[in-house]
Formats: sequence, C-alpha cells, structure tokens
Amino acid sequence: MTMDGSLAKALNDQINHEFSAAYVYLGMAAYFESLDLEGFAAWMRAQSEEEWAHGMRIYDHLAARDTPITLGGLDEADTEYSDPQSVVAAALTLEQGTTRSVNALYAQAVELGDYQAKSLVDWFVNEQTEEEDTLRTLLSQLRIAGNDGAGLLILDRELAARQPGAAGESDAQA
Ligand SMILES: [Fe+2]
Ligand SMILES: [Fe+2]
Repeated sequence: MTMDGSLAKALNDQINHEFSAAYVYLGMAAYFESLDLEGFAAWMRAQSEEEWAHGMRIYDHLAARDTPITLGGLDEADTEYSDPQSVVAAALTLEQGTTRSVNALYAQAVELGDYQAKSLVDWFVNEQTEEEDTLRTLLSQLRIAGNDGAGLLILDRELAARQPGAAGESDAQA
C-alpha cells in the first residue's frame, strides 16, 4: 500500500538519525584510538557500522515501497571526550533518544494501520532494548573500574573480542 506522507517523512528522518548515530559512534571510536584503547575503539567502530546498517534497513523498506528517499545532512561528530566513562554515558543517552523515536514510529505506523511499516519497526523496538541493556552494563562496569588502569585494560581486552555485527542476537539476522 502507498505510504502515508507523514510516516514517510518520519522514516526518512529515522534514516538520518541512524546515520547520525553511526557518525557519533565513529567519533567515539576515534577518541579511543587516540588513547590506544584498541578494544574500545573496535567496539565503537562495530557499533558505528551497525547504525549504518540500521539506516539501510529503512532505506530498503522505502525503496521497496516506491516511497521517495531523502538524505539529510550529518552534524560534525565529537572526537574528544573527557574520559571513557563520559563516552559510554553519552552513547547510552544517544540510544535512549533512539528508543523514543523508534517508539514514536511504532505508534504512528499502528495508528495509520501501516502494518508493513509496523513490522519493520518491530525489529528496531527489540534492538533498542538490547542496545540500552548493553550500554548500561558497560557503563556499570566502567564505574566499577573507575580510573583504575588495570580495570580499563581488562575491559578493553573483553571489548576487543566483539565480532563486527555481533553486538547481540538480534543482529545475527542483520
Ligand atoms: Fe540504530
Ligand atoms: Fe543503536
């Protein structure tokens, strides 16, 4: 069915939101590169690639439904932060914002009876639960490690073990 114009606009905005998140995470990766925390850097880079893939999911949906795609601009991304903890806190805030916009998209799709879009957004709703959980866990662990260099290095090793696109189960199908 033809997509409602307001929903098409909201989905296009979400493409921009996902690509913007990809850019923010890339800036976070660059910050960790500057500290030589390679595990954190690799993790943030994988996260960036995932966000790009999220944007493409929506892009593909719009293309499949012959709905015009618009690609807005991206803001400059920070590559400097005060410490690792503030980076992960910023990432959690970013994800909480994404959850709000994904929830709004879901409500809009349901209200319009656009179950094709609802089905697309279902995946994002589940993804956000996992994204927030992962970042809250990482933030807690960083708080426990505090400014202890050894703790940070252990976390860095653990994060280095993440495979690209394997942040969680819901990404296995990405
Ligand atoms: Fe995302
Ligand atoms: Fe995300």
